[in-house]
Amino acid sequence: MASMKTIVIGSGGREHAIAWALSRSPSVDEIVCVPGNGGTASEMKCRNLPVSGADAPSIARACLAELSPSDGGFVVVGPEDPLAAGIADLLQSAGLRVVGPRSAGAQLEASKDVAKRFMAKYGVACADSKTFDDPADAIAEIERINGPTVVKADGLAAGKGVVVAPDAKIASAAVRDFMVSKTLGGAGGKVVIEEYLEGEEVSILAAVSVTPELARDGKAAIVPFVPARDHKRLLDGAKGPNTGGMGAIAPAQGVDEAVLARFRADILEPTLRGLVAEGFDYRGFIFFGVMVTSDGPKLLEYNVRLGDPETQAVLPLMDFDFAELCAAIVDGSISSFSFKWKAGFSCAPVAVSRGYPGSYGKGYPIAVDRAAVAAAGAQIFAAGAGAGAATGKLVTSGGRVLASSARGATVEEARKNAYAGLAAVSFEGMTYRSDIGLPGAAVSGNLLSSDAS
Ligand code: AMP
Ligand code: GLY
Repeated sequence: MASMKTIVIGSGGREHAIAWALSRSPSVDEIVCVPGNGGTASEMKCRNLPVSGADAPSIARACLAELSPSDGGFVVVGPEDPLAAGIADLLQSAGLRVVGPRSAGAQLEASKDVAKRFMAKYGVACADSKTFDDPADAIAEIERINGPTVVKADGLAAGKGVVVAPDAKIASAAVRDFMVSKTLGGAGGKVVIEEYLEGEEVSILAAVSVTPELARDGKAAIVPFVPARDHKRLLDGAKGPNTGGMGAIAPAQGVDEAVLARFRADILEPTLRGLVAEGFDYRGFIFFGVMVTSDGPKLLEYNVRLGDPETQAVLPLMDFDFAELCAAIVDGSISSFSFKWKAGFSCAPVAVSRGYPGSYGKGYPIAVDRAAVAAAGAQIFAAGAGAGAATGKLVTSGGRVLASSARGATVEEARKNAYAGLAAVSFEGMTYRSDIGLPGAAVSGNLLSSDAS
């Protein structure tokens, strides 16, 4: 597969890491990032392609103008929205090879109710829950439980749809916000009221190759990557508001072989059986958001994509060719693919704009001392960073601006290298946590009132 052209859909740090991983493959000679960001604009072999609209048909048209079925390349879809809207269906029916599930499978992330029904139907270990479409019934259930609960809006809500409520008053208020005041629009039409679970969270990203044909041939498979851990709170010590993710470490500490064995038996295998039984064409990635409780690992959520910022920490640990993995996902050969992971750890702290996750300024120039980044052995993965119109230089354009990702033989060394990479970057209002990867840094001691995925 020499001289292959690939496309990456999305504009975040995850997509920069995916494009970077593809750029290192000798079989890939061009990566078109649709629309990409200020980091992918200058990444080796990469080119950004602006799109007229953010809707799936516009993105699909842009991809089809770039890649034809006879080129042998493929499209990797980064974020969940285009997947839920059927981008994989559109591209596949035009003959392109796509890494990302069709819309039916993407409902496992797009609807919490669909996900919970799937978990129950196939016996996936998870928190007990009930779904309601009437706020009075939801509040009656909350009052019956009369303790901590988790209130989840059914639909995609860009991380604003989950409230971990310490008591019935806060949970009921969340139900009224979602269902009566409709603070999330249509996403709050139904709510899931879920049992509150205590423990340490872990993100297990995995490659998935499931189609009815592969299942018939015994080749349907889900292969997990090294476990990772996100740090969702804004401040050191897991304090402050929740964010989209302030940094990640991989492999996640405390996730030993016994935990992974139970994860495989109680979560991964039932999920695979379910994807097969539903007859899905699901060839892409899946993200298991898992709480490791005293009663074993329990699934909190599925995402139908790689995690952000977990990807920025996990992909640098690959000791295999990412483009070959993408081809194996599409062709259905992941069960025989040779997954090898580098020894040691990878740490990826995120630099955010001051004010995030609330309001923040944009358009500040980002200075990067490339020599110092290289000396630290770090990679900068841009997220909310665009190219300035006047200068073409990097400027801030979002809340989570970039991540510095680096490996090390130990957690301490990975942290030291990653933070040395971050120290080589500066922009007005640059803010970051200093404890990404430290043991316990992702665990909050108190119940929170709002949460983000
Ligand atoms: P989700 O989008 O379902 O992963 O929820 C977002 C975040 O809310 C998770 O990453 C957890 O930190 C928290 N969360 C979700 N469900 C629960 C639960 N049942 N118990 C405790 N925390 C939860
Ligand atoms: N890091 C959590 C997510 O990607 O949803």
